[in-house]
Amino acid sequence: MNCQTKCPAIRVVMFPKDTNPSGNIFGGVILSNIDIAAGVAARAATMHRTVTVCMKEVIFKRPVKVGDILTFWADIIKTGRTSVTIRVKVEAERRGETIPVTEGEAIFVAVDEKDRPIPLDSPIGTQGVDDPDTVANPGKEKGNGSVVVAPATPAAPATEEVKKKGGKDNKKEKEKKKKDKKKKKNKKNK
Ligand SMILES: CC(C)(COP(=O)(O)OP(=O)(O)OC[C@H]1O[C@@H](n2cnc3c(N)ncnc32)[C@H](O)[C@@H]1OP(=O)(O)O)[C@@H](O)C(=O)NCCC(=O)NCCS
Repeated sequence: MNCQTKCPAIRVVMFPKDTNPSGNIFGGVILSNIDIAAGVAARAATMHRTVTVCMKEVIFKRPVKVGDILTFWADIIKTGRTSVTIRVKVEAERRGETIPVTEGEAIFVAVDEKDRPIPLDSPIGTQGVDDPDTVANPGKEKGNGSVVVAPATPAAPATEEVKKKGGKDNKKEKEKKKKDKKKKKNKKNK
């Protein structure tokens, strides 16, 4: 096999620590490696960090044994806006034989630093499209994951209510100061 034309995503040796009570390899170990292999393949579709959103149709066709060398072949079969679907085929090498043991699909979603979905091809440094700030901040636009920053607006002038409140507070402070002065004078006179 020439690794420049086709290369497995990962290869793993199965150890006794990975067995279930009946002595075969625990299915969860295979699932975990399918997840890793699909994650490796997803790197070809996006520069962003990816998370597994779904694993489906995983079929354990043959048991895996201690000492098997598993090869995980991972191919991108579909790309969406923010997601990429990967088909993973697992083969076991056992005493010179190559046995197809498991097969399944995983879907990965590209996410930004806040774990929000982001278009696969959007440049690094942009934000996900489900940014709650987008709703609050009209300067940001939803759509292709790019962010338009709103021009800085001058601070809003204080409303009448705020002004009044400020006025009240000032009055109170002045009265307090007057009282304090009186107290000090009284003390001195005593
Ligand atoms: C992945 C995650 C960010 C998606 O969030 P979301 O709010 O469902 O996002 P959206 O509805 O916008 O869907 C984003 C993409 O995921 C796909 N998607 C969402 N749920 C899916 C599902 N159950 N099956 C298949 N695809 C799914 C959508 O089709 C969409 O793809 P597209 O943009 O290519 O069309 C969110 O579900 C999450 O954080 N999950 C946890 C991921 C994780 O931690 N995984 C590790 C194992 S715990």
